[in-house]
Parts: sequence; C-alpha cells; structure tokens
Amino acid sequence: MIRGNEETFLCELQEGKVRFMANFQDKVVYQIYPKSFCDTSGDGLGDLPGVTAKLDYLKDLGVDYLWLTPFFPSPQRDNGYDVAGYRAIDPRFGTMEDLETLVREADKRGIGLMLDMVFNHTSTSHEWFQRALAGEKKYQDYYIFKEGSPDQPPTNWVSKFGGPAWEYLPALGKWYLHLFDVSQADLNWENPAVRAELAAILRFWKGKGIKGFRFDVVNLISKPAVFEDDHQGDGRRFYTDGRNVHRYLQELVAAGGIEGMITVGEMSSTSLENCIGYTNPDNHELTMTFSFHHLKVDYKNGDKWALMPPDHMALKNLFTLWQEGMQAGNGWNALFWCNHDQPRAVSRFGDDGGPCWKQSAKMLGTAIHMMRGTPYIYQGEELGMTNAHFASIGQYRDVESLNHYQILQDKGMSPSDALRIVQVHSRDNGRTPMQWDDTKYAGFTSEDSAEPWIGVNGNYVRINAADQLQDEDSIFHYYQKLIALRKEYDVIAYGELKPLDEKNPSVFAYEREYQGEKMMVICNFYGKKVTWDSETELGEYQCVLSNYEVHNIESSRVGLKPYEAVVLYKK
Ligand code: GLC
Repeated sequence: MIRGNEETFLCELQEGKVRFMANFQDKVVYQIYPKSFCDTSGDGLGDLPGVTAKLDYLKDLGVDYLWLTPFFPSPQRDNGYDVAGYRAIDPRFGTMEDLETLVREADKRGIGLMLDMVFNHTSTSHEWFQRALAGEKKYQDYYIFKEGSPDQPPTNWVSKFGGPAWEYLPALGKWYLHLFDVSQADLNWENPAVRAELAAILRFWKGKGIKGFRFDVVNLISKPAVFEDDHQGDGRRFYTDGRNVHRYLQELVAAGGIEGMITVGEMSSTSLENCIGYTNPDNHELTMTFSFHHLKVDYKNGDKWALMPPDHMALKNLFTLWQEGMQAGNGWNALFWCNHDQPRAVSRFGDDGGPCWKQSAKMLGTAIHMMRGTPYIYQGEELGMTNAHFASIGQYRDVESLNHYQILQDKGMSPSDALRIVQVHSRDNGRTPMQWDDTKYAGFTSEDSAEPWIGVNGNYVRINAADQLQDEDSIFHYYQKLIALRKEYDVIAYGELKPLDEKNPSVFAYEREYQGEKMMVICNFYGKKVTWDSETELGEYQCVLSNYEVHNIESSRVGLKPYEAVVLYKK
C-alpha cells in the first residue's frame, strides 16, 4: 500500500489496478452537539463561535474531523433534526460568516468539518412542506402523501418516537408519513426532483469548504412500492435498507460530487450485508456506517424502554460479528460508544460513581479505538462525562424521552418507575452541557448568562476539562494517546482483526496484524480482578498503553485489575 501525496487519498495497487479511496483509516472524528458545546452569546445555547473558540483544545486532543450535528434553521422539535432550510444557519447558532470562520480556523489546524445531512425527512415548517400544504402538486410529490379517510391511517406503522407514523391533514384529505416526530415529514426519494435537490445541497456545502458528511438515518430513505400493514412489527422491515437504497446513495454521491470525501451513514436497525454494500469502495456509496446493535445489549427483549443490565456476551458477539464481517466484505465500521442519542458509555458499561470511574472510561476507549474502523469521540467522552442523573421529569427536554415517559404511564406504570427508565435510557444523558471547568454552568456559558437550555450535570466540579488538562493521568490525556497510537502504528489503522478467547465472560480481547506487526488488546470489562491466559507467549510483546501503571504479565498469563486494559505490541 502506498500513501499518496494528497493527504486525503490512499492509492492502493490491487492486481495491477490503481484505485483511490479516502484515507480515513488513521483518522479520528470528534462529534460536536453545538447546542451543548460552548455558548459565547450568553443565551444559554451553544453556538458556532463557541466551536471556533475551542479549536485549540480539539487540536491538542489530536482529532482530524469534527462532525457537527445540525445547526440549520429549525423549530427545534427534535433539536435541529427537523430541518426547515438546508442552506442557512439558524441565527441561534450564529451566521454564515461564523461558519466560514470556523471552516477556515479548523483548516489552519488541519481539522476538517463534517456536516449532518438530514435527508430522510424535513421539518413540516420547511418551505417545501408548506407549499405542499398550500396545495402545490409539485411539492406534494416531495413527500409521502396518501389519500384516505380520517379514521383509517394508510398502514399501522409506528413512529420511532412513539404513536402512529401517519398524520391526517383535513384540509388536503390526505395522510403524510413521518417515521419520527409528527413535525418531521418523510421525503419521497422516488421523485427524481427530490434527489436532485438533495445533491445540490451537498454541492453547496462542499463549495463552502466542508470536508465530509454524516447522513442521518439514511438507510430509511427508500420506501416500498406498496404500503401495507405490518402484522409482525412496527413497519420497519418494509422501509429499512429499502429496495432502492444502494442506487439512491450511489446517485447522491455522484451527483453531489462527494466521492473521495469522508462520509458516514447512520443506519437504523440495519444488517451486516447491507453495511458491506454501503461501504465497500467498489460500490461508490459511503466510507463507513454507524450500526447500533451493540448499543441494544441493555434493552430488555429489544425494548429500549425496559431496564436490563448490559449483556456482555452479546456485546462481544456483536463486536466479533461486525468486525469480522465487515473485514471479510471489505466494508468499514464507524467505531463508537457515545453520541447525542445515547446514554454515556461510562454510566452504561463502566463504573460511574464508583472507585473505577477513570479506569473504566479509559478501558472503554481502548476497546473501541484499537479495533478496525474509524473511531468517533462524542464531546465529553474524553473527560469521562456521565449520565445526567436528573431527579425530575421537568429537567428533560428530549421529545422521545417525554413521549415515552407518557407512553409507559399509559401502559400502567407508576411515574417514578417511568422516570427511572428515562433516567437510564434518555438521549438527554448525552446532551447536558460540556464540562469545561468548575465555574458556574461548568464554563459552558458565562456566569451571568441565561440558564443553559438543559441542566448542567452536578458532577462538573469533579469532572471537567480544565482539571484534566493539568493532570497527566487524566482520561483526556489517555484519549490523546489513543489517537496518537492510531497514527503511529499502521497495524491499528490497516491491520486485520481476530477475536481472542471469545467465550470469556468478562474479558474482551482481540489481536490485530499487519505486515508482520502484531498488536494484542485485552480489556477487563468488570470491576473484579481476573486472570487471562493467552494462547500466545507474550514475552516478546511490549506494552504500549495501559490504564494502570503496573501490569502483571508473565509468559502467557495476564493478571488484570478491575477494568484494566492493556495494549501489547510486537514487530
Ligand atoms: C437520528 C438522529 C436523531 C434524530 C433522528 C431523526 O437518529 O441522530 O437525533 O432524532 O435521526 O432525525
């Protein structure tokens, strides 16, 4: 493999053929939820100048790309995933000039921006939907409208946020489809005019110097030819990884002129086979995919709104399946624990509130970052930020959490039991303001500003960036090392992965191999000491990273302390 001159391309000689692909294997992406990152205007909402203000921090961490969740004009029913205009900035977040400054300043630091394209649906406030409502046939064809009587939705499908997936419009005598909130109307990708509009939006942002894109729930864009009731489930089997989805993506990439740029598709309830299809470079679709199966191992019988401790064996099996499967099919995974839709990993799989909070956060980072794929760090993860631990439902903001709090009670659950479930699974756990320092509001906004839009986690006095920057042993500095290692060792970026000791109930271990280099990653997922026996003699390996100072490795036996992670290397 020869690395090309151009930084973003890798030139691979394969059976005499030269092919180009985006060089993303040694990159790390940092996700920013602008609303909760840094507020410079003092209105209690984070903004784009806030991101610019923190670029040196991000550069210091060592990340290559920033994925920013939507900051486009929006009624904010779903925190910006209800887009009312795709080519503008919501004044709450700043101006187009602010964005241009951010792009320029990031560029100076070798950091590229990735924008979040919500192309499955628009807000019902979007001009297209408003014109559809006003009776313009052209725009009615942009959405999925079905004739029908007011008491009979076209199908029995359920919205992902609860309740029916269809809404009736008496003025038109029609129903429209919304797989998410009632204010998020699904676009009709069967219509070539819609596809052309969306490709033009990509060209617009590329012209602004944007380096990549994240595509929101993009495997839901292709709906079936015939809409029918689902007697087995909520309807998702009819539109997930739908019949034309690969063709639409190929067309979008070509027409949007984004081939070779870094792209990631968020894939809801997807399959391995489809994700190979989405990411195998031969298909010219996306660079990588987010899949979520590993983040459902604490859903009881698949239900997010029922509690269960994480099933560690299921987690390991899913990692193995997706690592080996994507590798065999020449696909590429996005690697992640956290995002703005997920509870914090350290609260979920680690030791939040316990003596091993720090070690467990570092272990979780190790498990993900050393795998084959591109790691994503969600703001605050590099500090070991925890779940919100809000005490009352009034502190929650998320539409999905509030809907389900009600749905659980409608099913007969007590308010306190419903709250307990929301506390564990709410998306707001990942949305509390970034903890920069120990001043009022955690330095997210100034002390005399308006109240932050969502409460600051009370533990900011203990968990914050300012402290961790001073402390060589902090989670921040450990993440810095994880990123640096990926750039230093080709085996992490390019190596094959082989799972080790798959049946071990508490240790997650794997081996990486690339052109004679070997790496072994051994993670204890629990708070109890455990001895791990390797099939390989470890004498020639050196430890390149660990979350403890002293390790206990003798020939092929590794004594692991609570939540210990060790990364061993041999050339
Ligand atoms: C994705 C986003 C989520 C949003 C949903 C609907 O899952 O990550 O925040 O609510 O799509 O756009």
